[in-house]
Amino acid sequence: MKEELEGLLVDIENRSFDSDDAVEEFRIEYLGRKGKMKDLMAQFREVAPEHKRELGPLINKVKTAVEEKVAAEKASFNKNSKATSSGIDASRPAGGFPHGTHHPLQVVRREILGIFSNMGFGVVEGPEIEDDWHVFSGLNFPPEHPARDMQDTFFVERDPDLLLRTHTSSVQVREMERREPPMRIIMPGRVFRNEAISARAHCMFHQIEGLYIDENVSFADLKQTLLHFAQRFFGPETKIRLRPSYFPFTEPSAEVDVYWGLETEVDKRITKGTGWLEILGCGMVDPNVLEASGIDSKKYSGFAFGMGIERITMLRYQIGDLRLFFENDKRFLDQFAGER
Ligand code: PHE
Repeated sequence: MKEELEGLLVDIENRSFDSDDAVEEFRIEYLGRKGKMKDLMAQFREVAPEHKRELGPLINKVKTAVEEKVAAEKASFNKNSKATSSGIDASRPAGGFPHGTHHPLQVVRREILGIFSNMGFGVVEGPEIEDDWHVFSGLNFPPEHPARDMQDTFFVERDPDLLLRTHTSSVQVREMERREPPMRIIMPGRVFRNEAISARAHCMFHQIEGLYIDENVSFADLKQTLLHFAQRFFGPETKIRLRPSYFPFTEPSAEVDVYWGLETEVDKRITKGTGWLEILGCGMVDPNVLEASGIDSKKYSGFAFGMGIERITMLRYQIGDLRLFFENDKRFLDQFAGER
């Protein structure tokens, strides 16, 4: 009988079940009214007294083994697969919540602002609906300048003096009027232009404007500031070049290119075979602009620059179509899940 009991212990240990019902069958097989335990007890009664001392505990061991096995297996089935009658399994581990991702424009905006904050520039914002003075006249745009044209600017119908700003340079004017130099500010915001929407143009985009006014600010300061920015943003080896340009509110004016390289076919295509890519416009603030905002142009000088966030984001992530930024297609946005 001893071997039989030991065999049963092994059997109990090794049993496995594929359902709750199978566990119940096993319980009945051992502990039921006509079960194995019943037979064992009957046999035990016949055993010679000198063997009882050894076999008694062994029988108890079999019984406890069955009870423990049944309890453990039932608990595991309840936990893993048994739904409640409502069809909801409240014990099932939660799947986790999907997190949103940062929009690529937001990622780049924050990074650019961070670089200029580290150089001591304070962040300032201004209104998107502006008046002619802050967008054009205060910035030395002559009355017949093409940028004022209906083609480029969205005007507010009720009031011809009101318009959607076409650049963030308007915030420069507001700040120059509002306070005294020295000032060192960076001005992010949305701008609007009446353009046909395509892969390269949109009626709405984002700019970041910079302005630095103090005594003795020179073109060399402008160049070093932008070089530092380009090397922080695009990498420490980045080279820049300044090409003469024209803006009504800066003199001299320049456009800044970064050296992108000419190694691949893509490099050749996006740089039009030159290796250089334009990233922003800049210049020394025109004395007329300083005076128009009540700043003494004999005492103070300054530089300003403006860049398009979309443009820089497209370069950084090799995005070929501007419209993707505004469509909120999750398949596009999810690709920036790792960006902070
Ligand atoms: N406002 C100009 C633009 O929208 C950019 C610029 C800003 C140029 C500041 C010079 C100085 O193109």
